[in-house]
Amino acid sequence: MAVIRKAKLSDVPRLVKIINDFSKRRLLLPRTASDLCERIREMTVVEEEGTIVGCGALHFYSTEIAEIRSLAVLPTTQGKGLGRKLTEYLLEEAAQQELKRVFALTLVPEYFARLGFAEVGMETLPMKVWRDCIHCEKYFQCDEKAVVYFLDEDARLEADNHEAVVEA
Ligand SMILES: CC(C)(COP(=O)(O)OP(=O)(O)OC[C@H]1O[C@@H](n2cnc3c(N)ncnc32)[C@H](O)[C@@H]1OP(=O)(O)O)[C@@H](O)C(=O)NCCC(=O)NCCS
Repeated sequence: MAVIRKAKLSDVPRLVKIINDFSKRRLLLPRTASDLCERIREMTVVEEEGTIVGCGALHFYSTEIAEIRSLAVLPTTQGKGLGRKLTEYLLEEAAQQELKRVFALTLVPEYFARLGFAEVGMETLPMKVWRDCIHCEKYFQCDEKAVVYFLDEDARLEADNHEAVVEA
């Protein structure tokens, strides 16, 4: 049975391995052990039979917006609903914090669409989101899409109005 729980410091070596295996395939940004220790409180893991098979982080940017990052499920356990469970857990965490929007920068927008995220223009995200991007080798040829989940109806309407103005 799958168990979702907050990560703890003793999980860090396993998380480094999982995240950096995906980063070698350019699917996630790399994370160091020290970075993960500093941010362990934002990490959630999914275990099967006592072994971590997936993870995801909710990284706060302001009182209104956070990012889902380092989301991964091991290839051998993909397609069984674990990614959905992790993502829904992170969205619940965001709702408890009374956030308005949760976004992700992703190569798999179709996955996030299944979970109720909408694709949006990169320019709708706060500038400080790009802090990590300056370290990315794909900086000048970014192929990621921005997707957003609205937890607040006013935030959704505001985004719709922005789209309408951009299109006009
Ligand atoms: C993306 C990822 C986390 C999905 O995990 P998963 O456990 O396989 O996903 P689930 O089985 O929970 O799938 C949830 C839904 O998304 C769909 N889905 C999963 N991966 C998909 C993909 N690549 N493209 C389109 N839809 C996808 C499933 O069909 C399912 O739909 P349904 O519930 O409506 O039937 C996993 O494939 C992964 O680790 N990928 C590599 C790392 C990565 O790209 N992470 C995202 C970084 S932002």
